[in-house]
Amino acid sequence: MRITVTGGAGFIGSHTVTLLLEAGHEVLILDSFANAAEDVPDRVAGIAGRHAEVFRADITDPATYNSALADFRPEAVVHFAGLKAVGEAMENPLEYIRVNVGGSVALFQEMAKIGCNRLVFSSSATVYGDPVAVPIDEDHPLRPTNPYGRSKRMVEEVIEDWGRANPALSAINLRYFNPVGAHPSARIGEAPDGVPNNLMPFVAQVAQGVRERLSVFGDDYDTPDGTGVRDYIHVMDLAEAHLAALDLTGAGPGVEALNLGTGQGYSVFEMLRAFEAASDREIPFVITSRRPGDVATSLADPTRAADRMGWRATRDLEDMCRDAWAWQRGRNR
Ligand code: NAD
Ligand code: WQD
Repeated sequence: MRITVTGGAGFIGSHTVTLLLEAGHEVLILDSFANAAEDVPDRVAGIAGRHAEVFRADITDPATYNSALADFRPEAVVHFAGLKAVGEAMENPLEYIRVNVGGSVALFQEMAKIGCNRLVFSSSATVYGDPVAVPIDEDHPLRPTNPYGRSKRMVEEVIEDWGRANPALSAINLRYFNPVGAHPSARIGEAPDGVPNNLMPFVAQVAQGVRERLSVFGDDYDTPDGTGVRDYIHVMDLAEAHLAALDLTGAGPGVEALNLGTGQGYSVFEMLRAFEAASDREIPFVITSRRPGDVATSLADPTRAADRMGWRATRDLEDMCRDAWAWQRGRNR
């Protein structure tokens, strides 16, 4: 198939493009490189043995990419491009609406013009907000608690409305839980700018000595060891899910949401210990106060993704830590 991947140079996008190329698809990456290194497409090609086409553009500015998109004639679009930092979204909500919502609408309008009706969208478990029950299934109430989460839910709603108006649309909103890890080749992975917001990249940097110690944000949660429990999922499992979702968009029209998680939760301390084992390094930590907005436990019920796509996560915490560590070690040498 011909597939356009917005944000295809980013963390999850680059792993997905690798698998798409390996599966023989033709890929056009549309990326502004706002949060990606220039050499990512070449690294991907080094793994896959084939190149994706790359077009540098901002999704919010369709005049710059409409002809590239029309020339490529994608049969499907996988839409990763966007901003994803919760704290930044709280400081600058309008920018998150402009890029995540406005950019998506602009992209969808271009898709509509060329008659492209297959879409896989990067949504997030953050659309559920504070869980009223765990594990979280797709029927859980949708009450995002911050502007980033609301921007993701708004895009889901736009896609739902588009589907009501366009009976040919086949779209899947994939709600990722906590993506971690890296490609096993260690040639691509997560490369946050500055101080990482997320646990795994922070822990990896502490293990490498880039940062002194981890701050554990609270040990008084109502969880077995008092620290926050999350559903970490290996980025390669996520990437595989996108190929399965693309297949599902070929099965017929409709708009649906699917959780992507393992269904297995790990605490901050469990992550820390697993990363110590993978890296064979001690990871110093200090307990600090809770991070505002954090919940005790977030855990997916991934049953529907298995039922609808025949997809399941297969990689475990050891795989996640080993691959994240191999990637981290290769970065700052
Ligand atoms: P990322 O920042 O690594 O990738 C996003 C890519 O989009 C980058 O290559 C960036 O350069 C590009 N981009 C950003 N703004 C753009 C714009 N206006 N026009 C064109 N390209 C633009 O992030 P990621 O972790 O790979 O996340 C991918 C998607 O998945 C995002 O939509 C994110 O919200 C969503 N998501 C991520 C997580 C996570 O924890 N990583 C969890 C849930 C959902
Ligand atoms: C995991 C656990 C922290 C850092 C975020 C976004 C969410 C989604 C994924 C995009 C929590 C603890 C963390 C640290 C710590 N992104 N922690 N010290 O908060 O579940 O989700 O990323 O859609 O929208 O909110 O992930 O990795 O930040 O935190 O103790 O330095 O680790 O309190 O319990 P989170 P995280």
